[in-house]
Amino acid sequence: MIKQELRIAYTDIENENELNAEDRGLLQKARETCDQAYAPYSNFHVGAALLLENGIIVCGNNQENAAFPSGLCAERVAVFAAGANYPGVKIKTIAITCKSESFPVNEPLSPCGACRQSMSEYEIRYKSNIRILLQGETGKIRMMNSIADLLPFMFVAEDLKK
Ligand code: THU
Repeated sequence: MIKQELRIAYTDIENENELNAEDRGLLQKARETCDQAYAPYSNFHVGAALLLENGIIVCGNNQENAAFPSGLCAERVAVFAAGANYPGVKIKTIAITCKSESFPVNEPLSPCGACRQSMSEYEIRYKSNIRILLQGETGKIRMMNSIADLLPFMFVAEDLKK
């Protein structure tokens, strides 16, 4: 029996002014798309803005459905839109923000497991790390340099071939 430990790295940024203009702009886009979410059932809005290596920003927000499982999270709406419209173009950074109609969200959002797995696919597909910026409606920003820091032990394509 061997007990192992795995470390992940993240940075908490208290003041948005510590970010560069590109990151601040991307967070702003995430907030704007968050406001346009279709979330009449949860009243919880999430927005994701992706910066591609060609400079294009692709946005997505959560889209809910009366048949609950038929809806989709913001992160997957965004990465699938990027994959559909800009195949082969690397994703550099994903900014994700959230907002509730019922209570203040002062902590960075923690993306759901399915979205972590979906985002990790693009990191592996393009062999290039994707930076993540997470924020609630207010409060600190949490930054990771790779989706792997959000989802250690992700399921990977090699697992299908063994
Ligand atoms: N949601 C996201 O869009 N992203 C996440 O990572 C977690 C949850 C959405 C799904 C649903 O529309 C609402 O937030 C409440 O779960």
